[in-house]
Parts: sequence; structure tokens; C-alpha cells
Amino acid sequence: MTDFRMGVVGLGHRGRAMFQWVAKGVDGVKAVAACDLNADLFYKDVHFCYGGHKPPLCDEMPEVKFYDQYDEMLAQEELDIIMVETPATCHAEFCAKALKKGIHVYSDIPSVASLEEAKMLWEVQAASPAMLMTGATTCGWGFVLALQDLVRQGLLGKPCYLEAEYIHDCRPLWEETPWRKPGKGNHRYPITYCTHSLGPLLSILDEVPRHVICLSTGSHVTDIPEAEDLMVALYQTDSGVLIRHTNSFINQCTAGNHSYRIFGSEGYFEHLAHRGSQPARTAFSSRKLYGMDKWTEIPVGFASREVEIRSQQKPAAMFGHGGADSFLWHQFVEALQNKEKEAPINLQKGLAMTLPGIYAQASAERGGVKIPIRYPWDDDFKTEI
Ligand SMILES: NC(=O)c1ccc[n+]([C@@H]2O[C@H](COP(=O)([O-])OP(=O)(O)OC[C@H]3O[C@@H](n4cnc5c(N)ncnc54)[C@H](O)[C@@H]3O)[C@@H](O)[C@H]2O)c1
Repeated sequence: MTDFRMGVVGLGHRGRAMFQWVAKGVDGVKAVAACDLNADLFYKDVHFCYGGHKPPLCDEMPEVKFYDQYDEMLAQEELDIIMVETPATCHAEFCAKALKKGIHVYSDIPSVASLEEAKMLWEVQAASPAMLMTGATTCGWGFVLALQDLVRQGLLGKPCYLEAEYIHDCRPLWEETPWRKPGKGNHRYPITYCTHSLGPLLSILDEVPRHVICLSTGSHVTDIPEAEDLMVALYQTDSGVLIRHTNSFINQCTAGNHSYRIFGSEGYFEHLAHRGSQPARTAFSSRKLYGMDKWTEIPVGFASREVEIRSQQKPAAMFGHGGADSFLWHQFVEALQNKEKEAPINLQKGLAMTLPGIYAQASAERGGVKIPIRYPWDDDFKTEI
């Protein structure tokens, strides 16, 4: 089978790392082209807050051709796959241009930044023979796959109340990634960066959030008025499942980033991020299994079993957030090789975990009023809230 020709747009710390990891770690993919407005990210040494010093990418990947214009890269290279790693505020346009040319897309999250973009991308995807894979990293963690398994086996019963937190002080990234820095013309609402939290929770439900109320602390940690420190959203599905989501990118909390709790009719599951010297841990209880109705810690962490096994043959096959990114990339490439019609985490799933945050922002701006949530596949979807 010939290799899929892959290009990337966005060579920041995430794009560069992902491009190199996939090139080395995923069989069947060949890195051929890279694009960024800033040519220095390809031709010069760089220093990343989370990645340290890196030599010029052109030296590390001499076979890759660089472009500073995306349209030119799409026109010149016969790409099969494009990896979209531009700022979180601008993915949809890049995805749409590729899909229109029949190029498969692996898009980082969130899927879109507005309801207008959601409508546009939904229509483009419907008309395209190519597939869009949502790079919903946290859905590739081992403990999330374990949770899905427990739910499939009925050990938690019906999930009734779910919680997720993403607490990450991102101020060290402001200089390097200006789109993260709040200020005039860039009011930042952390609740819109919700896929890492909602992705794993929605993966165990067969419905989506339909209403939201949301409030914000406002700005206290810094003196920047456009910086909302922490936001809390409460979502509800049609069957009444409640989901509480807390998100903060400016805080003095030094604990780990992601925690999840699931209260089911027959059991309970949690994954709590590390706290100081206490490591992250995953636990569950279920009254459906003899002896398991007590607190049971399970030895599953970030890397899934599948990723661990693959990496025993080839160490480079495990990469990104404890192996989660490699899990998703392998799933994506397998789907392409098997000529599947849909990506494992398709645009519909991506929008279901992205749009609730956009509605949550609107709720917070209106003092916490309850707002109905609609998606582009609903007959009554509108681009205004
Ligand atoms: N999945 C995860 O866990 C995870 C983790 C970190 C970041 N991310 C996502 O990765 C993406 C990139 O984040 P980052 O931290 O690397 O940001 P970044 O600012 O370092 O990188 C974005 C790059 O895109 C380039 N760019 C912007 N507009 C462009 C255009 N029109 N044409 C070509 N290049 C353009 C910028 O020059 C910049 O180098 C974001 O969407 C972010 O949400 C995801």
C-alpha cells in the first residue's frame, strides 16, 4: 500500500511535535509538506516553553517542503492528509479548504470557533468524499477507554451525573502563543475550550447536551479585564443527565489538569489528576459485580493497552499526552486504509463536544440564563444565539 502524503499547517509547539511524531511513529504516512506564516519556525532554531530548544526543522526533516501560504501548499502538493495545528481560534477555514479538495483532515481541537463556522464546515463535510477526524486527545487515554468498557458492560448502569475539570495555568504560554493571551480584542472565555472535558463524557452517552447555564468568576488573578479566570457550566441532556464542567486557564492551582467523575445508577467511576506528591488515580465501584461494590482502584493510566503493545515493537509508535495522540492517529490511519466512510471521531462528534462551550459562553455573558443548545444537524439550528 502506498503511503499517505501528509502536510501540516501550524508549526507551533503542538504542530511541530505532532508532525514529527506522526512521521516517525505511524506506519503508512509520509511527511511531505509544512506550512506556517512564520518561516523561522522551519528554517531557524526555536525555543518552546514546553519543548525546550529545537534545531531547525528543515535540518531534522530535509525531505519536507516548506510553504508560508496554505493555499499554495494545497495547490502544489498532492496531499492525502492535512494536519491542522493553527491557533484554536482558526481551524475551520483550513479544514474546509482541504475537504473541498478531497484531502482528509486531522484537526486539532476545538472543531470550530463559532456557530457560523459550524454550519459552514458541516455543509462542506457533507459534500466532501474526504473524512475529518477530530483530534480529541483526551478520548485516547487508557482510563477513558476503560470507562467506555465499564459502561458498555453495564457495570455503571445509566450515567446520571457527570463532572469534568480542566484546570491549567496557561500564562507561561502567553508570549509564545499570543492567541491564548487575553487583552483588548481578545476576550478569553475558558469554557469554550471544552472538548478535553466533554469528549470523554459524551463518549459514554448516546445523547448530547441540550441546555446550558454557565457563570464566570471574572478577572481576579490578573489585572486584565478580558481574562475570565474560571468558568463553570452545567449542561443537561434530553433524558435529564447533568454534566458539570469547570475550566480555568488562569489560576494559582498547581495540581494536575484533568479530572472526571461519573455517577451511574449501578456504579461510580473517577479519574482524578495528580495532586502534589499524590499521583493521578482511577477508581470505580459497581454493585453489578460481586465484591466490586467497594472502592476499587484500577491500574490503568494514560497509555492504552493497545498503544503499549504497539510501542513494544516500535517505541516511536507511542506519542503525545501519554500515548493518547498516537492512539487517535493510528485509529484515523486505519480508518483510511480500510476505506471507512467516517472517521472514528468524526465532525459530528467534534461539534457535539465543541458547540456546548460556545452556548455556555453566551449564557455566562447573559448572567447565567438557561440557553437551549442546537447543532447543525437539527432542523431549527441557527447561527445566532
Ligand atoms: N490536543 C491537545 O491536547 C492540544 C494541546 C496543545 C495545543 N492544542 C491545539 O493545537 C493548536 C496549536 O496550538 P499551539 O499551542 O501549537 O499554538 P501556536 O500559536 O504555537 O501555533 C500555531 C501556529 O499556527 C501558525 N498560523 C497561524 N495562522 C496561520 C496561517 N494562516 N497559515 C499558516 N500558519 C498559521 C502560527 O504562526 C503558529 O506558529 C491549537 O488549536 C490548540 O488548541 C491541542
